[in-house]
Amino acid sequence: MEAKILQTPLDTAKAFADFMLEQHRENGMLTVALSGGSTPKILFDLLATDYKDKFNWSEIHFYWGDERCVPPTDDDSNFKMTKEHLLNLIRMPEANIHRVLGENDPIEEAERYSQLIESNLPKQEGNPVFDIIILGMGTDGHTASIFPHEIELLDSPKTCEVANHPESGQKRVSLTGPVINAAKNACFLVTGDNKKEKIKQIFEDHEVAKSYPAYHINPTHGELIWFIDEAAAAQLED
Ligand code: 6PG
Repeated sequence: MEAKILQTPLDTAKAFADFMLEQHRENGMLTVALSGGSTPKILFDLLATDYKDKFNWSEIHFYWGDERCVPPTDDDSNFKMTKEHLLNLIRMPEANIHRVLGENDPIEEAERYSQLIESNLPKQEGNPVFDIIILGMGTDGHTASIFPHEIELLDSPKTCEVANHPESGQKRVSLTGPVINAAKNACFLVTGDNKKEKIKQIFEDHEVAKSYPAYHINPTHGELIWFIDEAAAAQLED
């Protein structure tokens, strides 16, 4: 596990963009599972401007680690956010954009998206392997759409499951624990003062952190990298 602590959210997004570029230069083709959230939004703005001409976008394939079950025009859609902040501004072939069809029946869509991922990605020990999975962490310790009240999704034998938001009940399609842990690189992007307690517990108080899905992400054969800003890292011991 590696933790990179950066000064600001923009520096955090930049450190990840540099990492993604390095992976692209080393490997050419990249499969990347995207996330919703505030830091990815900053990242997408950066990729669409300063990094726009550094990537050969025809070699990058985007998937989503989780998506809300809403139409792609809904303000809650992670796809919509990505489209507005990145996809509309770069020249990426349509065929490289593999969105979750949030407008479909959630159970059928989780099944369809699982099959799509399973047929497009290489496998290791039965699990599809993404080159990079971008993850956020919620203030309740959730990651992707695996929330503490459905922590069993970490052990699901499926590639994707339907998850339920704990307060709103909104349905989501989410990658499961075994797929996240099969990634070559699982990368958390976590910024902001409101994450500092959870970050401290995940790094330094393992007994408490066990109930947080984010704590259980640790790729079996790949790398785990936390990109964190100073505000989120404020309570960590030196
Ligand atoms: C989602 C996200 C979710 C997010 C965290 C962190 O669609 O809800 O994928 O898992 O990454 O809630 O969000 P912030 O970056 O806004 O704190």
